[in-house]
Amino acid sequence: MTTADPLPGRLRDAIYALRKARLGLERRRLDYGRETDERAERLAGVLPASVDELRAYEREYENLEWFHDAYADRVAEIHEAGVATDTTHWRDGVTLYVVCRALEVETAVETGVLFGSFDAHILAAMERNGGGTLHAVDLPGGPPGRFDYGHLIPDRCREHWELCEGDALAVLPDLLEAVGPVDLFLHDSDHRLPHMRFEYETALPHVSPGGVLASHDVRLSRLFDRFTDANGLPSCVVCDTGIGRQSR
Ligand SMILES: C[S@@+](CC[C@H](N)C(=O)[O-])C[C@H]1O[C@@H](n2cnc3c(N)ncnc32)[C@H](O)[C@@H]1O
Repeated sequence: MTTADPLPGRLRDAIYALRKARLGLERRRLDYGRETDERAERLAGVLPASVDELRAYEREYENLEWFHDAYADRVAEIHEAGVATDTTHWRDGVTLYVVCRALEVETAVETGVLFGSFDAHILAAMERNGGGTLHAVDLPGGPPGRFDYGHLIPDRCREHWELCEGDALAVLPDLLEAVGPVDLFLHDSDHRLPHMRFEYETALPHVSPGGVLASHDVRLSRLFDRFTDANGLPSCVVCDTGIGRQSR
């Protein structure tokens, strides 16, 4: 919102703050154990993979020792530095890992990197797939503290990561145009409704048939459900992540 029109901007921020507070309460009530237990069943309703195949990818993730060692070290560095983090929980990362393995995602675009929890999981899956590129967008300037964007990404998969610094509002349309059809688009940047809607609407035409439009923090509002319904995308929510699949 521009300075010429401050009231709607402030109102929007107030509504967003209320939604975040409500989400905080809802998260306390949410049974994340059950959510993760049901991940494979829920994803099987959306992806072209059976529950058994999806569970096998979950087990594969659990056994990725090189990933967990590198990831745990980097998480510890961030915690020891006392940097306030808004880092996405690994349980949502696992959902993206499974999606990227099941669809053999080669080209992905993500908004909102911060320390790169999602990036690390997507890139680990790409490494197992045998290649791919994740184009990631975040605001200029870097995260708080001494770390760079994507600090959680293990060195082993960094070569598949392309960082684009800029406001998604400004850079996303051209980036999606330049990258071509994407197998996965993931929103995790500014969760205020107009921005989420902008990203969903901008990205969907670039999601390849059978590809996925994913979003974090979908429980903040009904937007993800409404958007996927309106566009005829089968979808599910696991923990705090929504997965919608573009028709073939
Ligand atoms: C919740 S954090 C992302 C967490 C990250 N996906 C992870 O896996 O840990 C939100 C990020 O979105 C970025 N962001 C906010 N507004 C943005 C915008 N308009 N364009 C691009 N990035 C934005 C912030 O700088 C911040 O790093």
